[in-house]
Amino acid sequence: MNTRETLKINKKGHLEIGGADAVDLAKQFGTPLYVMDEQYIRDMCRVYRDTIDKEYGGNGLVLYASKAFSCLAVYKIAAQENIGVDVVSGGELYTAIKAGFPADKIYMHGNNKLPQELEYALDCGVGTIVVDAYAELDLLDALSEKKGIRQNILLRINPGVEAHTHRFIQTAKTDSKFGFSIADGSARNVTAYALQKKNLCLKGFHCHIGSQIFEKQSFTLAVDKMFDFMGALRNELGYEASALNLGGGYGIWYTDEDAKISSVEYALYLEAIISELKSKANELNFPLPYLVIEPGRSIVGEAGVTLYTVGNIKEIPGIKKYVAVDGGMFDNPRYALYQAKYTAILANRADEAATEVVSVAGKCCESGDIVCANVLLPPAKSGDILAVLSTGAYNYSMASNYNRNFVPPVVLVKDGKADYIVKPQTYEDLVRNDVIPESLK
Ligand code: LLP
Repeated sequence: MNTRETLKINKKGHLEIGGADAVDLAKQFGTPLYVMDEQYIRDMCRVYRDTIDKEYGGNGLVLYASKAFSCLAVYKIAAQENIGVDVVSGGELYTAIKAGFPADKIYMHGNNKLPQELEYALDCGVGTIVVDAYAELDLLDALSEKKGIRQNILLRINPGVEAHTHRFIQTAKTDSKFGFSIADGSARNVTAYALQKKNLCLKGFHCHIGSQIFEKQSFTLAVDKMFDFMGALRNELGYEASALNLGGGYGIWYTDEDAKISSVEYALYLEAIISELKSKANELNFPLPYLVIEPGRSIVGEAGVTLYTVGNIKEIPGIKKYVAVDGGMFDNPRYALYQAKYTAILANRADEAATEVVSVAGKCCESGDIVCANVLLPPAKSGDILAVLSTGAYNYSMASNYNRNFVPPVVLVKDGKADYIVKPQTYEDLVRNDVIPESLK
């Protein structure tokens, strides 16, 4: 399917996002601008939540993996949609709490959580901490004792599933900084160790096999491996896990090389997982565990569009045409990091035929500062509004002030109405924490 056909283009020939004209948004808020479609985010939360309700009797929880896009408003939406969130740093936790997110529905991740982050998590009353190191078990046990609580934990397990995705975003292959490996016995050993901790309550296990994965078999294979592990543990240690968190990772559409999955069709991932889970539980005569999933990218990725204004255009005859925009790797480092591919369109001429292959370059002082390479566009002119699609996940959250550019503001659109959810930065913001010490004065 050519997904250009599914884009919303209004009578003026302009791209529409959440009922708002993208060209009007660019005029009103300036560019570069991240635009997030609120309804899409809500629909995705509901699809996952409803599937757990319908197919699994509600015996589970959807967590929004907030590393994909973290700001106060998104935690509000997650709370209103009655799902949980996963956080991976004191900063994400702070943002969630500040937004009034219920702490008992927060899961805290991280392969190297800092002592102050763990203490802060306990003080907030975070529901579950996903532990990824022996030292963390020791520290958490001591901290819990000091605070007179018994903290719920999961252990992060590496099931050894190599999913088909970029090697930097694979997380459960054998050589990984994440998790205790089932294959080499460390998962079993750490379980025995965790069970001795008086102030920790081991609820079960977590795994996450990677990101931007389309094959359902990768997820069902992870279910099999985790269940075989839990079955073996029951025999060896007499411990029966009551919760299983299978992470996130469902792929989204960036270009027509990717499958275009409607929000409703994402239920199929969860249905496949649930069906495998039930059959494995049945096979091993294992009580159905409390099921947790942690999608990030699929909840916010396709909800986002970044708007830029086209500036200079450089044609190198016989080689390439560069269309430079007012953003770059500071608002979207994914090309620089992963050679990520995107679809771009001219938002003000969205109905015109795309006839040229160009590279969209940013404004940073760096040759690798490309927003998207080899995209098909109508001949672009300075002043056009360029929209890069599917930028809702891991764009704003990975943005920086490189070259002292501003991290663009974010607007949330619904029914044609747009509001800031992240305000624009100012020059003053850039120097706010800078200090000139006495010795330099
Ligand atoms: N749970 C855990 C423990 C994770 O590490 C992640 C993502 C997720 C859930 C959510 O996965 P998702 O549903 O979003 O695929 N910066 C990279 C992606 C890194 C993903 C890190 N972990 C990118 O831009 O592609």
